[in-house]
Amino acid sequence: MCGIVGYIGHRSAADVVLKGLKRLEYRGYDSAGLAHIDGGVVIAKTKGKVAALDKLVTDRTATLGLGHTRWATHGEPNDVNAHPHTGGDRAFALVHNGIIENYDVLKRQLLAQGHVFDGETDTEVLAHLIEEVHRVSGGEFENAVRMALQQVTGTFGIAIVHRDFPDTLFAARRGSPLLVGVGEHEFFVASDASPIIEYTQHVVYLDDDEMVVITRNGYEVKTIRNVPITKAVHQLALSLEQIEKGGYPHFMLKEIHEQPRAIADCLRGRLLVDEHRIQLGGLEPVMDKLLVAKRICIAACGTSWHSGLVGEYLIEGLARIPVEVAYASEFRYNDPLIGPEDVLIVISQSGETADTLAALREAKAKGATVIGVVNVVGSTIARETDAGVYIHAGPEIGVASTKAFTAQVTVLTMIALMLAERKKTLPAARLKQLIRDLHDIPAKIADILARDAEIAELAKVFTYAPNFLYLGRSYNFPVALEGALKLKEISYIHAEGYPAAEMKHGPIALIDQHMPVVVLATSDHVNDKMVSNIEEVRARKGRIIAVTTPGNDAVLNLAEFAVTVPETDDALSPLLTVIPLQLLSYHIAINRKCDVDQPRNLAKSVTVE
Ligand code: M6R
Repeated sequence: MCGIVGYIGHRSAADVVLKGLKRLEYRGYDSAGLAHIDGGVVIAKTKGKVAALDKLVTDRTATLGLGHTRWATHGEPNDVNAHPHTGGDRAFALVHNGIIENYDVLKRQLLAQGHVFDGETDTEVLAHLIEEVHRVSGGEFENAVRMALQQVTGTFGIAIVHRDFPDTLFAARRGSPLLVGVGEHEFFVASDASPIIEYTQHVVYLDDDEMVVITRNGYEVKTIRNVPITKAVHQLALSLEQIEKGGYPHFMLKEIHEQPRAIADCLRGRLLVDEHRIQLGGLEPVMDKLLVAKRICIAACGTSWHSGLVGEYLIEGLARIPVEVAYASEFRYNDPLIGPEDVLIVISQSGETADTLAALREAKAKGATVIGVVNVVGSTIARETDAGVYIHAGPEIGVASTKAFTAQVTVLTMIALMLAERKKTLPAARLKQLIRDLHDIPAKIADILARDAEIAELAKVFTYAPNFLYLGRSYNFPVALEGALKLKEISYIHAEGYPAAEMKHGPIALIDQHMPVVVLATSDHVNDKMVSNIEEVRARKGRIIAVTTPGNDAVLNLAEFAVTVPETDDALSPLLTVIPLQLLSYHIAINRKCDVDQPRNLAKSVTVE
């Protein structure tokens, strides 16, 4: 969470930083701030979004500066707690993404040493710690930063400007992403590549416990223990167009509509329809392990966890390998039973989610092979896994995940089919048909998207419903969870997803004539059972909204409202049934005048535990 941008070069630092912060707002948007060096340290900061900060910044001549957009962890979002933070003598300004876990102990020591704090953040404690270490050590400022960072536990991506070093930008990381953009006589630091792509395509990814000191002539990376490191310069494959709205009112709607293209990109070169096989080059280094694995574990969070659940049904159903899916946050702290014989798949859109990264590290420490299913190329998770399959969905900027979910499920489907082919767990004809059906998915999604207006009308009926229930079975149970999550996170309507049969073990008590119940009831192997569950809802006067397939009269006759999706194999149905749920959530949220791209309290990249 939180976005950082720093700039040193020949342009207006304020312009570069403010523009960059707007692109990073998906990481947090409750307050924002900027500092530049102009004789001394000049700071502007405010509660609210970057647009509010923009109005405060009048002098834009400085060519060294940094900024921050915040997702509050310690201390409420207000002007004082907004970053940048300084020490007592205001000699430098520091922005931070992450959590200083021992801030309380450090703060008590610093208070005893006479430091006075303006706000409640852990970051301000770090600023005072650096100041104190510098005061006591009396040496180079950059060494004081290193020594201070050695004293902290927790995570940080930081950038610092100092009034005595008008030609230097300092930055360091542990746990929170940070990269250096390398331009022509100009340099950038940023939490991801989006703020810098219009200036340079060359980046250096900082690794944990590394610090960079950037001057107008170059940069030098050392560890925080002062050991020099030679870093590779990577070429970005990201365009400006990809991170703009392209005529859509919101990123979320754009990303929903990008799904046919995103899935086609994900399948390209991997789904070999004519050869009836799947080729996932990224898994070759671990293929031996994967083929003999007695079980596969999956760890992820949020929507990615939902796609992991679909993955469980797919891999168990098609490749007949037992799968366990864990919330990454739970996996880490429960001394997981995982070892050298096991394979862990971690799924993450951002590739930076702290809990997922911690699960990955825990599994690797225990000797397991770890595979990543990641969207952001070059992200920490992508770099730390043993092997992986990028989902190639393109940048996902709306906080609510949409195209990443379907692309993740697409990759998991390909993994399941590849394993099924190699382990010969499926009849050849079914495998062939599934490969053909997967190839047809992008066109079928386009078909559903073309009926967006129908779903917008449906949304009008339920805009002010206070609760929703989502029910599904088998492959569509995780879709019920995902539909409920999508609705609650962007419209703030309370929604729950359940396996349809579980309804009668409790949630059925909630059903009355006011309760919308979304049922995922395609013509699949559990259709008869779903029909019985729908009857149960109907008997209690629940308002049934069915996502079904054309001609499924048993469902159509019971539903008050229905949206149809094209027929496909049961195993592929989540790729279609989720689409109307994404659109329904979007339209309800818009009707309720919610900020769909930046819902309250959320952030796109959850880099704190
Ligand atoms: O970047 P990740 O896929 O690791 O993120 C995991 C979750 O934070 C994310 O899916 C979150 O639940 C989304 N807001 C859901 O729309």
